[in-house]
Amino acid sequence: MSLYANHERPQPLTTANPKWAVATRIFHWGSVLLLIITWVMIQMDENAVDDTYITLHKAFGLSVLFWVIARLINRAMTLKKVPPSTPMPKWQTGIAHLTHLLLYVLILAMPLTAWCATMLRGNGVDFFGLFEIPSFLAENRDLSRSLMGFHKGLIWTLLLTFTGLHIVGALYHQFIQKDNLIKRML
Ligand code: HEM
Ligand code: HEM
Repeated sequence: MSLYANHERPQPLTTANPKWAVATRIFHWGSVLLLIITWVMIQMDENAVDDTYITLHKAFGLSVLFWVIARLINRAMTLKKVPPSTPMPKWQTGIAHLTHLLLYVLILAMPLTAWCATMLRGNGVDFFGLFEIPSFLAENRDLSRSLMGFHKGLIWTLLLTFTGLHIVGALYHQFIQKDNLIKRML
């Protein structure tokens, strides 16, 4: 499976420093913003006296899920507009593409594990007070505990690690290679 189109045909000169499609850029930064808000909500929940912040954490977390599904549909529909890779050694392009694929897997796994864990405890999710998404899974507390363990432990750690790697890569290109890579996503 590849997130990238084949760019074997010669590219016209105008694509020398091409940008990602507008929708791809909006989806990228929208995901970053939603992730940060979801994380802030769980931090606020630590000293909270009621369920306000954990309820918001769940609603924002589910919004990440819906947003990333829309992002992937957009990504599949704009495959032909994927800009050709910036010139760099093949192994670097490989690592960048693999990191992107892993980031998609992890950013989907984060909300999915917690949503399933919530439903396996028999609970629905209050979506910003607008409506309730009911549980459609049979109760299973052991499985719920394991999934929540992954949500708070392994998957979160991997998401932070690969996001860090991704940011370091972007900064390396921007400030050491000086190839203006970040501009492609702005
Ligand atoms: C991309 C989306 C999400 C991110 C980044 C995220 C992040 C986190 C993190 C970092 C923690 C651990 C906090 C700690 O160690 O104390 C956590 C806990 C939790 N999350 Fe999420 N989460 C997301 C989506 C969801 C969703 C969709 C739900 C439920 C529908 C959810 C429910 C919970 C619950 C119940 C906890 C445990 C709180 C506690 O231990 O009291 N999360 N989340
Ligand atoms: C401050 C944080 C971030 C910065 C500075 C950043 C920067 C970038 C840049 C410059 C690109 C374009 C690379 C290129 O043109 O070859 C890119 C692409 C990408 N980024 Fe990020 N990024 C950040 C956070 C994230 C996060 C949190 C995720 C997901 C969890 C993510 C997922 C992706 C993916 C999947 C791509 C490939 C294009 C796509 O499919 O949308 N990024 N990022």
